Amino acid sequence: MKRHDVAGNWIAEALALRLTANEATTLVQQLYCSLKAWIQHGELTAGDTLPSSRHLSRALGVSRNTVLAAMDRLLAEGLLIARQGAGLYVADLPALLTRAEAPPTVPVRYSNRGNKLLALSGTLSHGHRAFAPGVPALDLFPREQWQRLLRRHYYQAEMAWMDYQTSGGLPALKAALCDYLRLSRAVRCRPEQIVITQGAQQAFELITQLFTDHGDSVWMEEPGYGGAQACFLASGLAVTPIPVDQQGLNPSLAPENAPAPRLIYVTPSHQYPSGVTMPAPRRLTLLEHASRTGSWIIEDDYDSEFRYDTPPTPSLQGLAEQASVIYVGTFSKVLYPGLRLGYLVVPEALAEDVRLAHARLHREGNYPVQSALAEFIANGHFTRHIARMRAAYRQRQACLRAALAPAVAAGLRLSDGHAGMHLLAELDTIAEEGMLVRRAEAQGITLSPLSRYYLAENKHPGLVLGYAGSTESELTSAGAWLSDAYLTLRQHL
Ligand SMILES: Cc1ncc(COP(=O)(O)O)c(C=O)c1O
Repeated sequence: MKRHDVAGNWIAEALALRLTANEATTLVQQLYCSLKAWIQHGELTAGDTLPSSRHLSRALGVSRNTVLAAMDRLLAEGLLIARQGAGLYVADLPALLTRAEAPPTVPVRYSNRGNKLLALSGTLSHGHRAFAPGVPALDLFPREQWQRLLRRHYYQAEMAWMDYQTSGGLPALKAALCDYLRLSRAVRCRPEQIVITQGAQQAFELITQLFTDHGDSVWMEEPGYGGAQACFLASGLAVTPIPVDQQGLNPSLAPENAPAPRLIYVTPSHQYPSGVTMPAPRRLTLLEHASRTGSWIIEDDYDSEFRYDTPPTPSLQGLAEQASVIYVGTFSKVLYPGLRLGYLVVPEALAEDVRLAHARLHREGNYPVQSALAEFIANGHFTRHIARMRAAYRQRQACLRAALAPAVAAGLRLSDGHAGMHLLAELDTIAEEGMLVRRAEAQGITLSPLSRYYLAENKHPGLVLGYAGSTESELTSAGAWLSDAYLTLRQHL
């Protein structure tokens, strides 16, 4: 191999700059790591000679033994080679070893399902800025009270909770939740029918794994919730978007030759994102359709607690005794999404299987947190928090409406806002939607385009304006900005 003298040498100077009297790392370690990194990154290449140990020890002001110890490690690893009378030089190493931190060159090939999932995931919003949909008021959450509760429940945690769990959630939480669901949501259930999951998303995945095979058909509301769409598409299901009208998903609008679905996903209390409520006759039609086709209805009851003029609409699950409905709920909206707690209510005959499948597939645990939540619910903090949030969200919505009043006067159509955590603003064209979204982005404002919630080609333009997670002053200023932007756009059309 050809050897090159590394002129006089930058190595000693560069090493001198790097050495520190750092107690955590010895001088030997520092010399070794620096030289190794230069060899691996190609700053020192095969055949480059190193300065002698005597030279380095003088230049660096360290003992010769320190230099020799570092060199010995590099020799032992085969990165350096010693030749009698020629000193040390860099070995000829395979490219794989010398380019340790180069970006991977192996082409990445995701599955078709993976690609569909990634296509949908690119639209996740980061950070909670004005109008982020689905985000509750984190600023109004009773954090101190909750943290006290968490601390106590961690402190008192039973040793048995450290083991693997298969109960489908802490029995105390299931009991407290069951009382709440029966009373507030008219859900027919006993605690044994509940399985606690890591949010609604994991509940959708569990249902999908248990009830469908690759290629099976699922009916999805159109427009509909991206989390459920992602779950079904990533599981390889054939998703049929069924149009939503003023009464929610309309089974009679399903394509004529559509195969019978295994699953039908609906948000009957408050359709996401259109906001419509499914009236009783449509609910009965849907139940009848599911029983005729042998489908399971997934009832996603994500934010029905927030209804401002009338009491919450009772659940679809509670309508019929033996209906094939799986009720899914979440604490993401009523408490906070980082909690990652949700639940399924399944018919009694399935409860054991679903519990076991959940334990097998996802594992369960975090019982101290579940225990704290059980107390939070049982002591009434939960319903009090919901009542406070209902009042706060009504107020926040009013602020947003006031800020958007000039745009509304100029033709912007806003949804009625009787329920939920967002308003829907309908626009005339997709181009208009795109322009507003891009201009808002530049201002640090999250505008979620309604067209993104559609799977089929026929998309309606609009904006999904979350208001629950923003303060009144944020809503006033972001709302005023949006109103101005809308008026400006109209003037130029
Ligand atoms: C329609 C709908 N369902 C469910 C959820 C809650 O999902 P998770 O419990 O996984 O946070 C959301 C949250 O944005 C939602 O919009």
